Amino acid sequence: MRNRHCRGAPLTAELFPETRRCHRIAAGAVLLGGWAQSQALALKAGVDAVIASAPWRHMQTPGGRAMSTANSNCGPLGWQSDALGYRYLRTDPESGRAWPAMPAVFWSLAVAAAEEAGYPGFAPDACLLNRYAPGARLSLHRDQDERDAAAPIVSVSLGLPATFLFGGARREDPCHRLPLYHGDVVVWGGPTRFHYHGVLPVPDGHHPLVGRFRINLTFRKVR
Ligand code: SIN
Ligand code: FE2
Repeated sequence: MRNRHCRGAPLTAELFPETRRCHRIAAGAVLLGGWAQSQALALKAGVDAVIASAPWRHMQTPGGRAMSTANSNCGPLGWQSDALGYRYLRTDPESGRAWPAMPAVFWSLAVAAAEEAGYPGFAPDACLLNRYAPGARLSLHRDQDERDAAAPIVSVSLGLPATFLFGGARREDPCHRLPLYHGDVVVWGGPTRFHYHGVLPVPDGHHPLVGRFRINLTFRKVR
């Protein structure tokens, strides 16, 4: 399958398991294959706790369409998309309360993964939770709503596999196509901090821990 935004030959096909353990995607961007797997149970429990106080919701794009992913947030700041645009909020607009605290296991995993990828001292103040049902996707975009450009993005995948697109500084740049599995972590920063990325529609399936979903946790330092 070819994403309409991504022209050019795929740069990364399926990698051998030993190559996936730590694979440099581009300067500043790393795949840590299976890195979160041993923590997956605790991470899933953390997701369930967050969702108990800030339930999944489908946000609106600034253009007025519902996003195909369901989202929530934890930590001091939560990412919000609606008719007013994209921004970070200190409270959950659905409840008027502060976002749930970041579970300790989320924090320690994100900090350790950033360090492993060459970004010591990462101190995320926002964690966006994305839930993909089969068919849900995330079109090519850049994470550019954060004030701190020095900190990387740490992205943790749980549940159903998906194909991650990782492109360049321009939308038309060719994309790496990385299969992401349960427990994979991708970290990007430095020269790739504002690179385009996205997720192709998630194929149907069943995961023993997560069921018929892919869940992605994205950690950021916003302020
Ligand atoms: C994102 O770009 O915010 C999420 C990426 C992913 O779901 O892997
Ligand atoms: Fe993103």
